Amino acid sequence: MSEAARTTRVRPPGPRGVPILGMLPAVRRDPTGVFMDAARRYGDVAYFKIGPRQGFLITNPADIRHVLQDNARNYHKSPLYQKLRMFLGNGLLTSEDEFWLRQRRIAQPAFHRQRVAGLARVMAEAARDTAAEWQTIASGGQPVDVDQEMMRLTRTVVLRALLGADLGPYAAKIDAAWTIINEQIGESFWSLGLTDWLPTAKHRRFQAARKLLRDAVDYVINERRRNPSDSADLLSMLLAARDEETGEGMTDEQLRVEVTTFLLAGQETTSLALTWTWYLLSQHASAQRRLEEEIDAVLNGRPPEYSDLANLPYTRMVIDEAMRLYPPAWGFSRQAQGDDRLGGFHLPRGWMAFVVPYVLHRLPAYWQDPDAFDPARFSPERSADRPKFVYLPFGAGPRQCIGNQFALIEAQLSVATLAQRYRLHLVPRQKVEPWPLITLRPRFGMSMMIERRTRSAPVTTQRAS
Ligand code: HEM
Repeated sequence: MSEAARTTRVRPPGPRGVPILGMLPAVRRDPTGVFMDAARRYGDVAYFKIGPRQGFLITNPADIRHVLQDNARNYHKSPLYQKLRMFLGNGLLTSEDEFWLRQRRIAQPAFHRQRVAGLARVMAEAARDTAAEWQTIASGGQPVDVDQEMMRLTRTVVLRALLGADLGPYAAKIDAAWTIINEQIGESFWSLGLTDWLPTAKHRRFQAARKLLRDAVDYVINERRRNPSDSADLLSMLLAARDEETGEGMTDEQLRVEVTTFLLAGQETTSLALTWTWYLLSQHASAQRRLEEEIDAVLNGRPPEYSDLANLPYTRMVIDEAMRLYPPAWGFSRQAQGDDRLGGFHLPRGWMAFVVPYVLHRLPAYWQDPDAFDPARFSPERSADRPKFVYLPFGAGPRQCIGNQFALIEAQLSVATLAQRYRLHLVPRQKVEPWPLITLRPRFGMSMMIERRTRSAPVTTQRAS
């Protein structure tokens, strides 16, 4: 298309879909497939009509940078987040502008690199607890759902490291509740909301799960109020925060919103990054061997600590590559607050910009052999020429994930601790399919056998690569 045409109010090309609903039925059926296909077919910018909404799918790093960073003020989280907002309330993940900035500033100190490094001990200990529990499972020869195991591990880490708490009487029921919540919000993400309020059995289950989560969060907050601790963790910061002008603290409701946000955002995504990592390792014997060799050579049988992480670069590459192929936050979107130019086209106020890491991470223009699992593509040499905005597991710009460092340290320690002692095998006939709800879950769970492993022989010769 000529530059003249691109700069007029012509819409970019895109899939047509059906009358009135446009691409809504297709996107509901297979969102990642539909966006992938459009990127292949139409290039950098593709027009989408999804039900009542219109917008562009953008896949050019410069356009993504424009939306997420350079002109971020013009872009709010899209109305699709409304479902999440209705559930979570208006907090760090879902709010905008001044209010968001205030909440971000309150929480930010808890995530400074040094402070997070100080939490590594708690993370490593939680991973060792899981390793100890797996001992019995490994000798019993029964498969486990690694998805559930990783949820439990990452939830324990968020609770202990950021909230200094446990869930007391709610611990046993929270997994089931969160699965119901995720499915309900995920499935209703693209719905028009016409039937959301109907008192169906599903809706009642959702309300019960929601109440359980709320009670669990109240339990965490009340426990801390009963036993104030002098630890300067996230929960203390949230409790101590005072408005500069009024001197008032957060209301109980606001506190509940933020604690729920951290509990959910912190557990779910990191857990999925780990689950997909175990799956990919189980399918790629040479990567698994190289990972084990690195862990054995560096740790020599002792448990990993924060100071080891810099010496475990391949472990980190494996995690980066797993998040490339299966980004836990597979897609997000923004809504233009004012007219803008995007990808050379006029983007009217109220239209959306879709940023889909699942698609960006597989674009052949930036990734050689994009469907292959190849952790070494994240080596410094092979990453040098890659534009920043094509790898976005944590988003970018001012709304970038606040838990980015936290998650990476946690994931590296967890993989090193568990792979040091065990090798995981997918059970035969386990179907594996990514399920793009709010996060990218394995649709059928991830049932795996846990095998105790012996240490690899010390490597005496210099590696060629
Ligand atoms: C592998 C793990 C993780 C992934 C892939 C991930 C991904 C993301 C992404 C993509 C966003 C931005 C969404 C957008 O721009 O619309 C985000 C935001 C956020 N994440 Fe994470 N996240 C992870 C771990 C964590 C952890 C461990 C925490 C907290 C303990 C956390 C808390 C948050 C919060 C509070 C926000 C909202 C930040 C804001 O808008 O200021 N995340 N995350």
